[in-house]
Amino acid sequence: MSAEFEVRRRIDERGKITFAEFMDIALYWPDGGYYTGQEPVGAQGDFYTSPAVHPSFGALLGVQLFQIWKYLGQPSPFSVLELGAGNGLLCRDIISYASGLSEEFMASLRYICLERRTVCQIEFGTPVTSRVMAEGLPFKNLVGCVVSNEYLDAFPVHQLVMAGDVLKEVYVGLEGQNLVEITGELSDPGLVNRLNGLGLELAPWQTAEINLNLGNLAKDIAATLNHGFVLTIDYGRTAPDLYDAEQRHSGTLVTYHQHVQTDSPLELIGRQDITAQVDFTSVAQAGETAGLNTLGLVTQRQFLTNLNISSLQKRLKEHAMTPRQIQANRAGLTDLVRPGGLGDFKILIQSKNVGRPVLWGLKASPQAADLVDNLPVPLLTDNHISLPDGLFTESNTGFEASWPFTDQEPPEATGAAQTS
Ligand SMILES: C[S@@+](CC[C@H](N)C(=O)[O-])C[C@H]1O[C@@H](n2cnc3c(N)ncnc32)[C@H](O)[C@@H]1O
Repeated sequence: MSAEFEVRRRIDERGKITFAEFMDIALYWPDGGYYTGQEPVGAQGDFYTSPAVHPSFGALLGVQLFQIWKYLGQPSPFSVLELGAGNGLLCRDIISYASGLSEEFMASLRYICLERRTVCQIEFGTPVTSRVMAEGLPFKNLVGCVVSNEYLDAFPVHQLVMAGDVLKEVYVGLEGQNLVEITGELSDPGLVNRLNGLGLELAPWQTAEINLNLGNLAKDIAATLNHGFVLTIDYGRTAPDLYDAEQRHSGTLVTYHQHVQTDSPLELIGRQDITAQVDFTSVAQAGETAGLNTLGLVTQRQFLTNLNISSLQKRLKEHAMTPRQIQANRAGLTDLVRPGGLGDFKILIQSKNVGRPVLWGLKASPQAADLVDNLPVPLLTDNHISLPDGLFTESNTGFEASWPFTDQEPPEATGAAQTS
């Protein structure tokens, strides 16, 4: 049975299904759900993510993990659990770079890739890596770090709309043979509780998405860690910004197919990605409730800049490469911090049972600067994408002129999260 068949079968049975249930089937139905098909990330897929853009992303995350390992007293094993690891490229880049940081760190590292989907292009050849197929978190008492990149944005969301002055939920139903969005009573009291808890009310005809899994996920992550850190990287905003009636009146749900962004989730079922921006205020609050401290929320641009990405950019020219290769590496590195794109992604850092250290990614430090200055510059491999060859033409990148980007705005603070 295909994903679309299953959607129609459930609607025939019950009249309508919530948008969250529809999204769960469209993305994860074992027969033909989007994430059971071909690799979605990369030039041949539908979108790209930071690990695919340049290995410096993984390398600098590895530098942050190295500081965490030292801060925790150099435990062995030092577990890194990556949620929604996808094709495993981030894992590969972190491990490749970690081997140059310290042999002892490398020997202590135990990297676990957790993934719900079965299709995976990259082989996990390294002895410190294991790959676990699971939807939940089947671990307890780890010492180390839980990491994710673009994991939360792939969770099914409920959709709400303020129909005049009555809060309604968006369902998927049938009109003749056509799948259509219809509104109905709220399916779960957690939806209105979330808005009330945030002190928010939607404006007339405003649409908003809500991920109801955040509380359970935070509990699972807290139970997974004996002590350590959680690094959550994704596109999203603090709640007042995300649910701002003027800026995002229609919500943030979008679809991706072959690198084209639309907002037609009921089409191409199982053949396009469906995703919504992450409410980082609620992620931080769910974490606090589950026993995770919020250490900070920064943009990816701030995080990578604090970890001295500029040094990698400056030293690119020391390598013997063709002008084309230099351009490709420069484009990838720059794209990681580009305003309006990946640079605006957020990194939420939480901790459990470890106090409140100042992490290098949250605050620039001479130690991080020195360390990165003395490490090799990671270079694109065949597993990464080449932006000039692929998604952008050289004429529209403007990469040279705009580097380095600096943040004009003060760091953001969530209800619970603070920026160091
Ligand atoms: C947008 S992709 C990002 C993949 C990868 N992290 C990257 O940055 O390229 C989201 C990934 O999360 C996985 N995922 C979603 N929900 C999951 C769950 N409950 N458990 C494990 N993996 C999950 C999906 O299968 C998918 O591979």
